[in-house]
Amino acid sequence: MDSPVRSLLASGVTLTDASLERLLPSPDTLPHSIHRAMRHSVFAGGKRLRPILCMEAARMVAGGGDLPADVADLGAALEMLHTYSLIHDDLPALDNDDLRRGHPTCHVAFGEAIAILAGDALQTLAFQTIAQLPVPAVTVVHILREISIAVGTGIGRFGDINTEIPSGMIGGQVVDIESEGVPPTADLVEAIHRAKTGALITTSIVAGALYGSSQRPLSDGSLARIREFGEKAGLAFQIVDDILDMTQSSEELGKTAGKDTASIKATWPAVYGIERSRQDADALIADAFAAVEPFGSAADPLKSLAQYLTTRTH
Ligand code: IPE
Ligand code: IPE
Ligand code: MG
Ligand code: MG
Ligand code: MG
Repeated sequence: MDSPVRSLLASGVTLTDASLERLLPSPDTLPHSIHRAMRHSVFAGGKRLRPILCMEAARMVAGGGDLPADVADLGAALEMLHTYSLIHDDLPALDNDDLRRGHPTCHVAFGEAIAILAGDALQTLAFQTIAQLPVPAVTVVHILREISIAVGTGIGRFGDINTEIPSGMIGGQVVDIESEGVPPTADLVEAIHRAKTGALITTSIVAGALYGSSQRPLSDGSLARIREFGEKAGLAFQIVDDILDMTQSSEELGKTAGKDTASIKATWPAVYGIERSRQDADALIADAFAAVEPFGSAADPLKSLAQYLTTRTH
């Protein structure tokens, strides 16, 4: 990893964690169990990629080089949504995983009922946090609408796939679960990946851009380009997640390796093999770069983050 992206990641983690620390109820807040469970999963050592992408999109749109004030709270809200999705993804009824971010999963540490409720509470706190962002109300509403659609069950159309497919995170999780054990087609796996993972990554970048636009209005067509960047990078991200599941150890990943093959999941390598999957992830990153070319060097941080998504080892 080159050093500019390393320092972007490190400072993004610090900013995100400071916001999360302030926004999450303390472990001594009653009822203790749920607040400790929320903190267990949130502070287990995630990469904070969604907040970092959000903040860098906001910086790019705002102009001037600095991060817009308090954008880390928006990043923290996105991390709460992501962590909630992981807690629920790991439940026995879904992927049934006992290791996450190098620690026992929430339901292993706190029991299934509290884990379900901790996920619910993180989702609620995320929307409360967004509602309190210090930008004009019209921007807040725009961000709320954008994110709530992306994490929901919405049905949309994508690219040249000529069928109605889920475009929201939960819709993607539903199809992922319902497709277990079925030999996946190319269209099915693309639909699942764009929805279960791509939607939250895309909306993190778009929401950051909307936040930055309260400082400097977006020019015509900019948001569509930023969204396209997010969709391409988000799909590449999940392809790489699938590859890592097959190629890395549990120790390196901080989650159980080899789970996708064992559960007969619809993955990119299951359809295309590992080599072609790597090529597809690289091609998607090249497309993502092309989408933000008109932003010039202001897009360099976002581009280096997208590159990191494909070269990461966990
Ligand atoms: C894992 O996401 C879940 C997927 C959507 C594939 P990350 O790889 O970003 O996990 P953390 O947040 O760093 O733990
Ligand atoms: C998770 O996808 C997607 C969401 C949590 C929405 P995976 O099931 O592939 O994620 P990991 O591999 O468990 O992190
Ligand atoms: Mg899953
Ligand atoms: Mg999983
Ligand atoms: Mg996975």
